[in-house]
Amino acid sequence: MSILKVARLGNPVLRKVAEDMPLDQISSAEIQKFIDDMIETMKEYDGVGLAAVQVHEPKQVAVLEVADNPRYPQKPRVPLSVLINLKITPLSEEMEEDWEGCLSINELRGKVPRYKSIRVQARDRNGKELNFVASGFHARVIQHEWDHLNGKVFVDRMRDLSTLTHLQEFARYWTEK
Ligand code: NI
Repeated sequence: MSILKVARLGNPVLRKVAEDMPLDQISSAEIQKFIDDMIETMKEYDGVGLAAVQVHEPKQVAVLEVADNPRYPQKPRVPLSVLINLKITPLSEEMEEDWEGCLSINELRGKVPRYKSIRVQARDRNGKELNFVASGFHARVIQHEWDHLNGKVFVDRMRDLSTLTHLQEFARYWTEK
């Protein structure tokens, strides 16, 4: 497996809309290796999610996992998942704000409104259909990755930029003591 290079904000690839993955390609050795490399890259940089555009491939593939993560302590766990050709539908208009960061904007964090609960439709790495409901932090991570697949980043979703903060200042001024 290899660690892939992560595109940072300003790189035009992050503004590309990812193309659907033809189902007959999912099982190819090339795509399976790419998925393994994405997982390895996410873990290497302590991300909770990674979309293919972030590693310079405008394909509809995202990976996510919330385990013991130093960047997001005290968050509920989400098992390692691979989401291909991701579609989401909000289950209600209800939204909540919480902090997000991004491996492509790695020095900053900000408060982002997201739907509290969503229906998720996608394929897994075996091409199997997935259809489930996600809520809370799980739903947040999926919406963040879905945005990447559509050429958007979390700062685009902020109501205003007043909570945008560097990590050091986040630790100093914004964490509850
Ligand atoms: Ni991100």
